[in-house]
Amino acid sequence: MKDFSRKEIDYVLDTAEKLEPVARGENRSRLLDGKIVALLFFEPSTRTRLSFEVATQRLGGQVLNLGSVEASSVMKGENLADTIRVISNYADLIVLRHPLDGSSRMASEFSSVPVINGGDGSIHHPTQTFLDLYTIRRESHLEDLKIAMAGDLKYGRTVHSLCHALSLYGAEMIFVSPPELSMPSEIVKDLQKNKIKVKETNSLEEIIGDVEVIYMTRVQRERFLDPEEYEKVKHRLKVTGSLLKNVDSNLKILHPLPRVNEISPAVDATPHACYFQQAFYGVPIRMALLALAMGVME
Ligand code: CP
Repeated sequence: MKDFSRKEIDYVLDTAEKLEPVARGENRSRLLDGKIVALLFFEPSTRTRLSFEVATQRLGGQVLNLGSVEASSVMKGENLADTIRVISNYADLIVLRHPLDGSSRMASEFSSVPVINGGDGSIHHPTQTFLDLYTIRRESHLEDLKIAMAGDLKYGRTVHSLCHALSLYGAEMIFVSPPELSMPSEIVKDLQKNKIKVKETNSLEEIIGDVEVIYMTRVQRERFLDPEEYEKVKHRLKVTGSLLKNVDSNLKILHPLPRVNEISPAVDATPHACYFQQAFYGVPIRMALLALAMGVME
């Protein structure tokens, strides 16, 4: 996200808004007619992979899917650079999800076509950040937002990218996590250097009345080397119906999904729950990013 200025982010969000009727199937578009988008997912995904697929198809393009890594020549020992070199000769754009930090930037150096980062390591997930910003703009407001980010702030790549992007809009941020999963200190220092008000706590109860948006995240079992450490922290924070009893009616709850146990199903039917709508907004946002990256929209 650090590659984008506020003006450029706003431009992507405006483009997504124009494409939203196409994402809903209300209008038709052939913007990606004749274009092929390769999906290379080296880690599990439902939303990112399928919303890129839907976004491509709604714009009239086609998808080339690597499928499961086990069925590819990665299992014969082919390295990422060679895989990217080959697939960039088959497709007009590559979407990559990979467990290694920096893998998308590295892939872009070996690719002859644009590469979109679909989530790399524990550091970045920029297309998620675009859809998070879009959701906040559509369902609340971006300017001077009071937001709490809660859950796994140490390994959660979505919150890392979101912090930086929201700082461009002057947000006030509260980080809620068990001490073991707190926001990395370099990110906190970076925000403070940019004059962003930051508070840290381990209690949702303490801050629930003070914020306009709560961004919940899952404690990610797959990022823990020691399963016992995961067991210790996995159920510490939870948004429940009773927690929401006296909150402001405009409070919005976001979550990048998948959720495990951190938002009770009782919350789904409340006007605060935005996470399924948020997952839909991934379609217009990814349409905008595909169209802009392939130069079919200006
Ligand atoms: N939010 C998100 O990235 O979901 P997936 O892992 O299902 O793509």
